[in-house]
Amino acid sequence: MPGAIYAEGLVKTFGDVRALDGVDLDVPEGTVLGLLGPNGAGKTTAVRCLTTLLRPDSGKAVVAGIDVLKQPNDVRRSIGLSGQFAAVDEYLTGRENLQMVGQLYQMRSKAAKARAVELLEQFHLTDAADRPTKTYSGGMRRRLDLAAALVVSPPVMFMDEPTTGLDPRNRQELWEVIKQLVSGGTTLLLTTQYLEEADHLAHDIAVVDHGRVIARGTSDQLKARTGGERVEVVVHERDHMGTAAEVLAGFGKGSTTVEEHTRKLTVPVTGGAKLLAEVIRELDVRGIEIDDIGLRRPTLDDVFLSLTGHVAETATEGDEQDQTADAGRTDKKEAAK
Ligand SMILES: Nc1ncnc2c1ncn2[C@@H]1O[C@H](COP(=O)(O)OP(=O)(O)OP(=O)(O)O)[C@@H](O)[C@H]1O
Ligand SMILES: [Mg+2]
Repeated sequence: MPGAIYAEGLVKTFGDVRALDGVDLDVPEGTVLGLLGPNGAGKTTAVRCLTTLLRPDSGKAVVAGIDVLKQPNDVRRSIGLSGQFAAVDEYLTGRENLQMVGQLYQMRSKAAKARAVELLEQFHLTDAADRPTKTYSGGMRRRLDLAAALVVSPPVMFMDEPTTGLDPRNRQELWEVIKQLVSGGTTLLLTTQYLEEADHLAHDIAVVDHGRVIARGTSDQLKARTGGERVEVVVHERDHMGTAAEVLAGFGKGSTTVEEHTRKLTVPVTGGAKLLAEVIRELDVRGIEIDDIGLRRPTLDDVFLSLTGHVAETATEGDEQDQTADAGRTDKKEAAK
């Protein structure tokens, strides 16, 4: 039986761009699917097709047991959506925005008011409740938008980058809200660029690139597929990074990742502590002073990098300076298959 969210061969083109190129998804009821992928991979397009905001060119989608293409109105009644860009009415206050959503879902006025009070409290917006939302900060708008998606408790929720722009405390709190929702039986599809978030919340992860699902599994399965441990070195002198990369390449089982601004180099290895000792000796022989070195297990970031040839792009962490020593994006994708 298909899950609470099911898609088969979804295709959506915009002119020459194949935003979705045959996406298949299956999310069992009461679980969280994390949809990961670089910018432009097709995540938002997939969410928009599944939530009836866009009509796919071809393919099939069933949400909460309802055919998305044949009965879009029924689907809308069974889902909640928090989009990538907060969709609140600027001129209404936070409280009015939430009450309005309740009324759209045909709640009685008293119930809608009570629900608004609850959500304002839960999302730390009580103090700002009666100000027009155009005076809210970015993080406050995001929280209001998420609150709006939770006014009614639909069986299936979609959240497109729910915590982008939230500070660490608000992010952690939202994770708790999401966990509570899911423990109450809600099925959730969530896109994120914070791989830690996917690690923390998602039962299953689908990595999307160029409109296709290129890998799927639990976080542990994906990490195991990415294989082995990593040696991570922080060199003392920026000028030594090139030589250090050469040394690591001699020991590595894959491409070396170079992070210029932190002077950190990472390479996948097999061989554990013994190999680590050899790396340290070789760096010493070559006169490279190191600030830190260690062996670590692959993270979801490593998975993402090895599958897509990109580091995850987040707005806040100057990742644009990061680069892989070997830029063979297609080669790596081939290798990942
Ligand atoms: N309305 C549109 N018109 C034209 N092209 C579009 C439209 N919407 C999306 N695209 C294109 O489709 C591709 C997928 O976009 P989408 O927004 O789904 O990516 P995404 O994975 O959500 O990226 P991001 O991480 O940046 O949010 C991109 O190449 C984008 O430019
Ligand atoms: Mg998007």
